[in-house]
Amino acid sequence: MCGIFAYLNYLIPKKREEILELLVNGLKRLEYRGYDSAGVAVDSAASKDISIIKKTGKVALLEEEIKSRSNELDVSGTVETHCGIAHTRWATHGIPNEVNSHPQRSDPRNGFVVVHNGIITNYKAVQTFLEKKGHVFESETDTEIIAKLIYHFHEQHPNYSFRELVENVVQQLEGAFALCFKSKYFPGECVATRRGSPLLVGIKTATRLATDHIPILYGKEADSNPEHRPHGRGEFPTLPRTGSTSEFEPLEDKQVEYFFASDASAVIEHTNRVIYFEDDDVAAVKNGSLSIHRVRRGGDDPHKREITTLKMELQQIMKGNYDFFMQKEIFEQPESVINTMRGRMNFENGTVTLGGIKEYIPEIKRCRRLMLIGCGTSYHSAVATRQLLEELTELPVMVELASDFLDRTTPVFRDDVCFFISQSGETADTLMALRYCKLRGALIIGITNTVGSSICRESHCGVHINAGPEIGVASTKAYTSQFISLVMFALVMSEDRLSLRQRRQEIITGLKNLQHQIGEVLKLDNKVKLLAEDLYKKKSLLIMGRGFNFATCLEGALKVKELTYMHSEGIMAGELKHGPLALVDETMPVLMIVMRDPVYNKCMNALQQVTARSGKPILICEEGDQETMSYCQKSLEVPKTVDCLQGILTVIPMQLLSFHIAVLKGCNVDCPRNLAKSVTVE
Ligand code: M6R
Repeated sequence: MCGIFAYLNYLIPKKREEILELLVNGLKRLEYRGYDSAGVAVDSAASKDISIIKKTGKVALLEEEIKSRSNELDVSGTVETHCGIAHTRWATHGIPNEVNSHPQRSDPRNGFVVVHNGIITNYKAVQTFLEKKGHVFESETDTEIIAKLIYHFHEQHPNYSFRELVENVVQQLEGAFALCFKSKYFPGECVATRRGSPLLVGIKTATRLATDHIPILYGKEADSNPEHRPHGRGEFPTLPRTGSTSEFEPLEDKQVEYFFASDASAVIEHTNRVIYFEDDDVAAVKNGSLSIHRVRRGGDDPHKREITTLKMELQQIMKGNYDFFMQKEIFEQPESVINTMRGRMNFENGTVTLGGIKEYIPEIKRCRRLMLIGCGTSYHSAVATRQLLEELTELPVMVELASDFLDRTTPVFRDDVCFFISQSGETADTLMALRYCKLRGALIIGITNTVGSSICRESHCGVHINAGPEIGVASTKAYTSQFISLVMFALVMSEDRLSLRQRRQEIITGLKNLQHQIGEVLKLDNKVKLLAEDLYKKKSLLIMGRGFNFATCLEGALKVKELTYMHSEGIMAGELKHGPLALVDETMPVLMIVMRDPVYNKCMNALQQVTARSGKPILICEEGDQETMSYCQKSLEVPKTVDCLQGILTVIPMQLLSFHIAVLKGCNVDCPRNLAKSVTVE
């Protein structure tokens, strides 16, 4: 997914070289989001113009291009106040090439340049309007209309401030966006805004910040005359001008640096003081002061934006001793599961407290049903815990893929409780499903890993899974932490049920032992690598299981597909005879999960059906289960835990297997082709 990074230094002398390095470094931190081209815009050395440097492919290529143009860019020159914007693009409109990369520009003289994350749905209509006005488009992007539209407003209203021009532009845009603007007409200024795509600003001053919040300034609403609606035939309407404003004054001497970014990983090495923007905020930096504006919409508008202190550290987002982020994240699971339970599980007295939803528990207990909604891996965590939730809450539990849920316009009622599970907290389908349920009056609970994310903010209450930053596109530690968060919720819901006392206690004991047991599973790494060597040249891998381990089959197959580009399918073992068995012969790689749980005999049935067709399944089974292992040539033994937690231990060999196959095949482990970490478009 696209990444935005912008840097503004005010009254702080910096060499151009430093500024370019800083911008490129910011983009490197956002690489994990997935992208196919990159670009920067900085003030030109020779004139008051703006230089744009863009490159298809990796940020490293952009870096080389910048180096090769160091004379032209006068990299040794110093600037006291400067704004630079940068971008990694994940193509949506138009192929990945340099013209389509961002920054996009308003005109050949680069009067205004913009970087954009998201999609503008009405770009065609705006483009037609602008073409009639004589603007000539050079890219296939939806973004270019933004650069040209601001230029159009500037020509019409030369006295408007930069911020006012941006406010007018966003009035005309439909769709999802985060935007950062730079202009040669407003040197040293930066304006940023968002609607539906994440954006934050980091603030760095030499001494403590003088305030912990920024007041929000409201403008007047646009003319509501339908003739003046966006993409009407006449001129676009413009907002009434707002008067003078009180702004964020950081220090007496006002030396300050601002870092605009799509997420905190690009900012944290510079400052831990950030403001997360909300939809329709327009943030402007002028003369070193930051102000946040909104066009007034309703009576309960907020008065300020808090400055948040980030707790995450740079080393948390670095690879450490591992070759890949995904590998690091798999091996972090003994700690990440503990972090998910920290302060919530009291193993001594067997109690569970989820502070984020505590007040809502009586309401949740009265609900008609629970709905768990997510995409990809997050959806699988719902599949993994559904059975336990049904058992401990005795409520109907629906698990839903967000996209399908929306397609069906599923009936939702006021007495429904809807969980939105998302590592990033920004997944467009999940977020839209959330808004859909909220509109219908359901209670909204967010289960996310990203503080300040859209899902977090828009939920009534929630549980942070606290897995720490997950950089690899393939989700690993977030899955086990989502799993545990939902198990803890089931425990909270059943705390006063005497008949479930023993069951709850065995689960609590299981959770207590997890850290050690995950450590044991991770010791299988070398054995899994040997299996990967057998499998990496195969075309397909079937993964079978049922009951509490079915989710592992789905999640394992997703990991194999996403990382190795090999076909893989998670198969419910009970469905074998209804079709999938036809795939089985002596050449078809099959992996089966057979644990000593209530569906053991049924799983053994499936195993025998496979071996009877000359299949040679690889087994994931319970440590020491010689009897089951005697049916197969190859097996991976995992420690036994309580049935409903077993999926946490069986999924880890699948994470390792997909990782090793990907490495052997030379695939890009952390950024698989065509995928992005945070899918902020439908
Ligand atoms: O950030 P989210 O959890 O909402 O993301 C949902 C899916 O896009 C994500 O889990 C995806 O399936 C993973 N890349 C799978 O490893």
